[in-house]
Amino acid sequence: MDAQPDPRLQDGPPVETRKPRVAVVFGGRSSEHAISCSTAGSVLQAIDRERYDVVPIGITTEGRWVLESADPARLAITSADALPAVDGSLMPVALTNDEGGGALVARDQLSPETRRAVDGLGEIDVVFPLLHGPWGEDGTIQGLLEMAGVRYVGAGVLASAVGMDKHYMKIVLQAHGLPVLPYTVVTAHQWEHDRGAAHESVDSLGYPVFVKPCRGGSSMGISKVHRTEELDAAVEEARRHDPKVLVEVAAEGGREIECGVLEGFGSNSPDASVVAEITVEGDHEFYDFAAKYLPEERTRLDVPADLPDPVAKRVQDLSVQAFEALSCEGLARVDFFLLPDDRLVINELNTMPGFTPTSMFPRLWAASGLDYPALVDRLVQLALHRETGLR
Ligand SMILES: Nc1ncnc2c1ncn2[C@@H]1O[C@H](COP(=O)(O)OP(=O)(O)O)[C@@H](O)[C@H]1O
Ligand SMILES: [Mg+2]
Repeated sequence: MDAQPDPRLQDGPPVETRKPRVAVVFGGRSSEHAISCSTAGSVLQAIDRERYDVVPIGITTEGRWVLESADPARLAITSADALPAVDGSLMPVALTNDEGGGALVARDQLSPETRRAVDGLGEIDVVFPLLHGPWGEDGTIQGLLEMAGVRYVGAGVLASAVGMDKHYMKIVLQAHGLPVLPYTVVTAHQWEHDRGAAHESVDSLGYPVFVKPCRGGSSMGISKVHRTEELDAAVEEARRHDPKVLVEVAAEGGREIECGVLEGFGSNSPDASVVAEITVEGDHEFYDFAAKYLPEERTRLDVPADLPDPVAKRVQDLSVQAFEALSCEGLARVDFFLLPDDRLVINELNTMPGFTPTSMFPRLWAASGLDYPALVDRLVQLALHRETGLR
């Protein structure tokens, strides 16, 4: 086989004299694989090829890394029964720090011919990890990238892990004096060995409550529970996603408000976007998976939200405070409930929020004057300007 080196993978001149090389990493092992692929399709389309060399890397659902296609059309979600997925038959690659920085190398089991073709796969200056959920948004890939000494877009190991775990997220927010709803945690051990105590602590919150997997996303495994008799089924459902379950007082009559945060350059403080409201219409009891992703469902996004200025301003201030409380980097979306008595509570913070052009986070920034390509560029630039190692 007379294979030619793949031009996407060749080492170029040093970064000072060439375009930065951005590896867009997507797919992954979580249930949000297809959503990640479609996001990657949008980012690959928006990223400025005049400024950056782009290397698309897919992670299969089994966790294998391959050199993927940069064709946005292949990655788009076009119908519910043809979801995009990373193609595991493509060239396997791995990230190392052989050169004292991030470098992509061909995996050992490649045939000698292919290995020659891709020898020295090339330096990576920044990774854009477009992964949602566990093994992506939770600090694990961030740890791998830290080990490889490569810069990456978004939150670091600690902020990603804390942001993924609704239990620790509340502990950190509360410790910073930020408002959250009362909650209790049901661990696997408690559920299996002392269910009475678990019931007691949930009952003392008062019903209705929301039952959620601690490290979930996309509303999967979440239920609203109206009375104690429904609790066991809801906890079992949440435990299908995570052995650790969070139970929280329901924000009855609360409005769902969201705000985007972007890290500032240098010593500038983070910026907050305009504030939006989500209204779920029809027969959904809350913003569940169907309301989030199925096109025929009716979910209204008001960007900006119809709120008095002081309330919107307070949402923005609390969002920046939450971003700083968790030591976030790059970006985050902070989600609130505005309660009928006008109190604001933070529901959660997402360190890698949905990122297609029609997702809430890009829409918040578009309405704040930063369009999708400019947003992608800002995130890459923030990552390129960051130090590697402890910071
Ligand atoms: N305490 C609560 N009160 C009212 N609604 C809630 C509460 N917790 C969650 N929800 C509803 O469930 C949705 C998903 O919950 P959330 O905690 O945001 O999990 P996920 O990480 O899956 O997005 C929210 O957008 C909201 O509609
Ligand atoms: Mg949410």
